[in-house]
Amino acid sequence: MTAQLPRMRESPLLHDDSLPRENVVRHVSELIGSTPLLELVRTGTGTRLLVKLEQFNPTGSAKVRMAREMVLAAERSGELRPGGHIVEPTSGNTGTGLALMALERGYTFTAVVDDHAAKDKLRAMKAMGAQLVSLPCPPGGGPSTVERRRVATELAARTGAFRPDQHNNPHNNAGYRDLASELLTDLRTDVDYLVGAVGTGGSLCGTVEELRRLGSGVRAIGVEPEGSIIFGGVGGSYWQTGAGSPPGFPVGRNVEYDAIDEGCRVGDIDAFATARVVAKRAGILLGGTAGAAVHAALRRLVHLPAASTVVVLACDAGEKYLDTVYNEEWLLQRGLYDEAAQQRIARLWRAYDESVLLAAFDTEQTGA
Ligand SMILES: Cc1ncc(COP(=O)(O)O)c(C=O)c1O
Repeated sequence: MTAQLPRMRESPLLHDDSLPRENVVRHVSELIGSTPLLELVRTGTGTRLLVKLEQFNPTGSAKVRMAREMVLAAERSGELRPGGHIVEPTSGNTGTGLALMALERGYTFTAVVDDHAAKDKLRAMKAMGAQLVSLPCPPGGGPSTVERRRVATELAARTGAFRPDQHNNPHNNAGYRDLASELLTDLRTDVDYLVGAVGTGGSLCGTVEELRRLGSGVRAIGVEPEGSIIFGGVGGSYWQTGAGSPPGFPVGRNVEYDAIDEGCRVGDIDAFATARVVAKRAGILLGGTAGAAVHAALRRLVHLPAASTVVVLACDAGEKYLDTVYNEEWLLQRGLYDEAAQQRIARLWRAYDESVLLAAFDTEQTGA
């Protein structure tokens, strides 16, 4: 028989007044925010590329921030009543956020989705009790954003459900206020450039507006997949999920063009190749749109003033894309696997590393 140890009633640290009170949450949504910042790249001029790892939120994505804000605002306005029903078209991340908020607050949630969505996002929504209405993708394989919206609007009108309308709901952008203050608190310096993939526009525009309201001089760079029509250019299909607007989809009010200093496009090959290089070099798996945003930032670092602070918003993690972005067979079947692209990106990254060594050598030689 093993001797019974006396049960500990109090933590030995209980009387240490420098510690906070008990640190336990009762709802998963209380864990939203305070996501980490990772320095991915540094250059010889002291410029840094930092990634805000939004996959550390519950549901593994930034979008839970805005899902919470939209639901709480709808409760305040009376659009959402106890026991109500929420209907929204989603590529998955907004849906998992809404699924979480619905289950915590006693609503039912129907997500209108398509085959373009990452399978694991659909499984996650289902696991949290969401109902899925699944639509086929249009020929060519792009997202069925137009049809998803039509079906969701019709379903909400027929059932009297609350439809958050993430593309036009101002509480989407407002959901990122905390993200802005987290950046300033963690950095203790200004953010010079904020780079983010744009879908509804909420995460980039919401963060940038709050940063500027707090006094920041940040410049915002929006990134969309090649084939998306948010910043102009030729429309077509793309495999990045969550970001972009396909041809025919009206860009919503939450893409605030006045708040974005520069819009650019990154193709699927470069987006996915960058995510794969980051995985190999840093040991963290980013989603495909985060790969695109890192790509846009990496290419700009050399042109930026010395000691710039560049923050990339990583909307989600690569664990949601093990079947796609991190699956060579899937990439090869779609002509998206490009060894040369990965080598180019790795070379660029190495050149930045070497510029740090060079700067150190220079300082040693000249004493500057
Ligand atoms: C993976 C991913 N990246 C980027 C975005 C774009 O974010 P936003 O809608 O805030 O512009 C989304 C939006 O759903 C997303 O799911």
